[in-house]
Amino acid sequence: MTSLAKKLAIFASGRGSNAAALYEAMQAGEINGEVVVVVTDQQDAKVLDRAKEWGVPAHVVMRKAYASKDEFEQAMLDVIAPYEPDAIVLAGYMRLLGPTFIALYENKILNIHPALLPSFPGLHAQGQAVKAGVKVSGCTVHFVDTGMDTGPIIMQAVVPVYAEDTEDTLAARILPEEHKTYKKALALFCDDKLVIKDHIVHIKD
Ligand code: GAR
Repeated sequence: MTSLAKKLAIFASGRGSNAAALYEAMQAGEINGEVVVVVTDQQDAKVLDRAKEWGVPAHVVMRKAYASKDEFEQAMLDVIAPYEPDAIVLAGYMRLLGPTFIALYENKILNIHPALLPSFPGLHAQGQAVKAGVKVSGCTVHFVDTGMDTGPIIMQAVVPVYAEDTEDTLAARILPEEHKTYKKALALFCDDKLVIKDHIVHIKD
């Protein structure tokens, strides 16, 4: 029996190409989910234009409008609460979520990272990979825990890294893999196929 479509809040800080890939996959019936709200911390984020095109409500919550990170995150929680999201999908959201926020959505926050975790967490992951001289890199979809890109890994994809690569050329090679991998991982999540045991993600038949 198919379960009800998951109600998803997308958090993004920028261009929103992952958000768009996921939205389109939902529209095409490839993911049993519905984007109920988009939240961004950047007032000029391109993802806002996308949300407008989709007819999905979008909210800007600026960090500088709040005295503390706790108040900022409470404001984000207040913004999404009326939409009653089942899960939160981070799609190029460039801030670390705090423990209070994460506890409220335990194992219900997914993230995409442009490297093969646990290598190269944090910012400029593609640049870190180029600098390290690794010969393969890729992307990782994972559940979010309180660490920096340390949560249980759902799915990864690999791309080659060439000696001539720059942060930008590698990022461009990884991005299409991000879109594909995030779609597959989110589809499994929305079908309730992911089980976490001792930090390892198992996929149910
Ligand atoms: C993507 O490459 C994503 O993996 C990365 O930001 C980009 C957002 O692109 N996320 C992180 O680095 C998170 N630490 P998009 O806005 O086009 O999806």
